[in-house]
Amino acid sequence: MESAAKVMVSTLTNPLRVGLRQERVIPPQCLVIFGASGDLTHRKLVPALFELFVQRRLPSEFAVLGCARRPWSDEEFRQKIEPSLKAAIAAEPEGWQSFSKGLFYEPVDLRKPQDLARLGKRLEQIDRLRATRHNTTFYLSVSPSHYGAGCRALAAAGLLSDPERSRVVIEKPFGTDLASAQELNRLVKTYAQERQIFRIDHYLGKETVQNIMVLRFANTIFEPIWNRNYISSVQITAAETVGVEERAGYYEGSGALRDMVQNHLTQMLAITAMEPPGRFEPETIRNEKAKVLQASRLADIESPWSACVRGQYTRGGSSNRPVTGYREEPGVDPNSTTETYVALKLFIDNWRWQGVPFYLRTGKHLPKRLSEVVLTFRDAPVHLFDAVGGASMANQLVLRIQPDEGANLRFEVKAPGSGMRSRPIEMDFSYDESFGEPSDEGYVRLLADAMLGDPTLFTRNDEVEAAWRLYTPVLDVLEDAPWQLPVHPYEAGTWGPAASDTLLARDDLLWRRP
Ligand code: BG6
Repeated sequence: MESAAKVMVSTLTNPLRVGLRQERVIPPQCLVIFGASGDLTHRKLVPALFELFVQRRLPSEFAVLGCARRPWSDEEFRQKIEPSLKAAIAAEPEGWQSFSKGLFYEPVDLRKPQDLARLGKRLEQIDRLRATRHNTTFYLSVSPSHYGAGCRALAAAGLLSDPERSRVVIEKPFGTDLASAQELNRLVKTYAQERQIFRIDHYLGKETVQNIMVLRFANTIFEPIWNRNYISSVQITAAETVGVEERAGYYEGSGALRDMVQNHLTQMLAITAMEPPGRFEPETIRNEKAKVLQASRLADIESPWSACVRGQYTRGGSSNRPVTGYREEPGVDPNSTTETYVALKLFIDNWRWQGVPFYLRTGKHLPKRLSEVVLTFRDAPVHLFDAVGGASMANQLVLRIQPDEGANLRFEVKAPGSGMRSRPIEMDFSYDESFGEPSDEGYVRLLADAMLGDPTLFTRNDEVEAAWRLYTPVLDVLEDAPWQLPVHPYEAGTWGPAASDTLLARDDLLWRRP
């Protein structure tokens, strides 16, 4: 492949960071985090809030109230938070002084009504102190089994009674299959209105996932060819280099299908394949996403095992950096059949996509960390030119979600010289080079949107259910005849089991190996 032809995005106006950003101002409020002693709060939520503070996007009338069962004081909570923000605090020590004054803590057990009553009083007090105007966003960063009960407890304490001023953010996983997701939706809707519920999928917070919509719907060159007439296949990949780490307790019961595919990969699929919405409004966008998921199906519903491959990593790495196999990880059953890799083939039965295969894959301990959407275009109907090095390659548009965020387009050009031979080159767009700054962490965007009451990037109840329905044939086989979908071992650090290559080889295709 020739070296990439670089395309710089013209910044036209002020090229400084501030000139490129368009930010909305978050109204006064208190963000209540349940599960404040947990990993997510320390690793993602508070760092994201501090980033919003540093970007001056939080109003001065703002507070964070951490809640968990531990009997910490406000000061202890601040001290516990500090280590996870070390680098950010070092860069903004005064900012931290001022931000941390708005951090509070209240010991709360969501199962105890007296704790909820105390929480109500504490919120009143914080409201007087910080003038948060009774706007409250409750973030449930707790065990998924407590989502329904958590909403019930908040409603019973009268904390969700004003839909204009109170919201609930719910982490994934939302259910473990279609029936449990439906039941959870039913339960949650008993206590709050749909417009108060913000189901978070942090992939939707990634700038590059949102960019798929801008690329498709702000340009005239892509949309006319974004269909079965021009596109022959689509690959969606989320590859990780990490293993299960300390999360065996959760992961053993989940596996890659529930952990990554039902949510993150399916959201990328929905945004890639949806119809253009009439207007850029939360419900019109979510309608289109729900519609395309409702039209999606496993390539072979009758024999799901022919459209799905599961894998599990085994020992790998090098002698100086050995990698433990999944079954030897702490907390994992030595006979575990939980998949750490999954590949699937789907179709979308609508006018735009009929017959175009969509291949999804994700795995842990793969050779590279990367998420991308690859659209391969149909072959030229006639090949007039010989290609250097064999057959000419089909045009390909790669949307790089992470890392190295951007996109590249592959097309054939004339190879230099007196002959008329073609060879492929890539035209490249990089966020970093064009905008000179890395994009925000997904949680920065999503926390801000939840506090703004903007549900565009959150999954609606029907989307969640459609996503579970899509994978129900696979989950049914795993329940009733698991031997039909065995986990194929793959060595840690390789691109997954050979069976996954066979899934594409049957269609004369190869996975992209960047
Ligand atoms: C989480 C999964 O939702 O996403 C993890 O539970 C996974 O298992 C993570 O590692 C990947 O997120 P990202 O943003 O690093 O691709």
